[in-house]
Amino acid sequence: MDILHYQNEFLSYLESKKWIHEPKNLYEPIDYILKLGGKRIRPVLTLMASDIFSDGFEKALPAALAVEVFHNFTLVHDDIMDDAPLRRGKATVHEKWDINTGILSGDAMLILAYQYFENYEPAVFQKLAILFGKTALEVCDGQQLDVDFETRNDVTIDEYINMIRLKTSVLVAAALKMGAIVAETNDENADLIYAFGLNLGLAFQLQDDYLDTFGDPETFGKQIGGDIIENKKTYLYLKALEISSKEDKGKLEYFYKNKLKENSVKIAEVRRIFELNDIPLLIKGEIENYTEKAFNTLSKMDIKDADKQNLKNFGLWLMNRSV
Ligand code: IPE
Ligand code: IPE
Ligand code: MG
Ligand code: MG
Ligand code: MG
Repeated sequence: MDILHYQNEFLSYLESKKWIHEPKNLYEPIDYILKLGGKRIRPVLTLMASDIFSDGFEKALPAALAVEVFHNFTLVHDDIMDDAPLRRGKATVHEKWDINTGILSGDAMLILAYQYFENYEPAVFQKLAILFGKTALEVCDGQQLDVDFETRNDVTIDEYINMIRLKTSVLVAAALKMGAIVAETNDENADLIYAFGLNLGLAFQLQDDYLDTFGDPETFGKQIGGDIIENKKTYLYLKALEISSKEDKGKLEYFYKNKLKENSVKIAEVRRIFELNDIPLLIKGEIENYTEKAFNTLSKMDIKDADKQNLKNFGLWLMNRSV
């Protein structure tokens, strides 16, 4: 089955739920963010994994929804933390409402996410809950490191990779593993699909960082240059520091010391230095490396070739996306 099919199945499940009830100021923002669109990558992966390991995706729908609601909760809080005005081409929750609304609607989403596991019998429920708890805490760890790095000037590329593994990859990996758990496949399969997701997730976050600076503002749906404005220590920045001239390195360090009110000069200068040093090409190479690593894990798995191809196509689609 192709990606679009899983996306559509997921969407009708999401839309079958009644999100808005009293108190409306708590639930309307939840309905807003969940229906704002998005690629639905993580729930699609949950459904795909369940289909691969058990010939059926339907029983994975509640787990897929749990993953997507959790993901959207992290976005609502992340947008507060990153002071982001735009999400999926529309106002972020804290811009449309206010910060307190973003905090509490986000909290409620975290709890709602967990509740979808109540659809499963005890043995499966326990496995899902354990994986979810571990993953959710890791995402917090990653988000804290991401913020800590904004004001540090000695972040290494290894530290960056570890940070994106925590804030992003573990959820992609867990989304796949939840599909495996629901399908009640063996631990080896579940662990291999998790390893596939970890590397795919690293490639995915590197691509997100690339698009944040070099994406098309018409299609990306987020503020272009947001990471530069916020002094995010991305691969783009860290690699540029490593290889640029002494003068440009000095400029980069100077620009990333403070947060400014007016950012057009900063963004233009930082982009110029990145481009001068071929950073877009280098990050593309890293994205390909991690995607390749993910594909290598696939070859170890004891699943149908057609299923491997499906997962590969998904990885290729992610790698070449512009949104
Ligand atoms: C955005 O995730 C947050 C990251 C981890 C980069 P997505 O790019 O999956 O966002 P949506 O759900 O498709 O909007
Ligand atoms: C987000 O990283 C990771 C989580 C939301 C946990 P980013 O801050 O890069 O995500 P976007 O770019 O705002 O979607
Ligand atoms: Mg962000
Ligand atoms: Mg962030
Ligand atoms: Mg980003």
